[in-house]
Amino acid sequence: MKEKATYIVLASAIVTGAAAAALAGAGAAVAQDAAAGQASFAKCQACHAVGPGAKNKLGPELNGLAGRQAGAAAGYQYSPALKSAGFTWDQSTFADFMQNPRTKVPGNKMAFAGMRDQSEIASLWAYLSHFNVDGSSK
Ligand code: HEC
Repeated sequence: MKEKATYIVLASAIVTGAAAAALAGAGAAVAQDAAAGQASFAKCQACHAVGPGAKNKLGPELNGLAGRQAGAAAGYQYSPALKSAGFTWDQSTFADFMQNPRTKVPGNKMAFAGMRDQSEIASLWAYLSHFNVDGSSK
């Protein structure tokens, strides 16, 4: 009898979960993306900070990245290559760079091989692009 009761509780938990997923709208999908991006930012954190009080580390701080000129974080010593890259960060330049940093900006000094997974890159962008220049969230 006890086992049967456990089964019923589990089954109803699964049904509730499915209903919640079906109800999730576009806003929730973006929030989910940003949450996934925050998790993959663990791969960047040895060298990059973002959010309130973020400082330059081995790499530049990444606040206000959306719309920021490449090579423009105050007080960071960029490679000449990135400093003179001459583009602005948006979803598409970011995706190109993350896929293959050395092809997008030859001679840059970011020691990171790149990422193949486009959806991971998109999630990272959803996460990074919601920080304002002062580190607050949009
Ligand atoms: C081993 C250290 C390291 C890791 C790991 C790393 N980066 Fe970098 N990153 C750098 C350095 C160093 C630079 C500056 C490159 C230069 O000046 O040529 C940089 C530059 C950048 C820039 C350009 C910023 C600007 O101001 O133009 C972006 C965007 C960036 N990294 C994103 C990421 C993301 C996202 C990750 C994680 C997926 C990551 N990096 C992982 C070291 C790293």
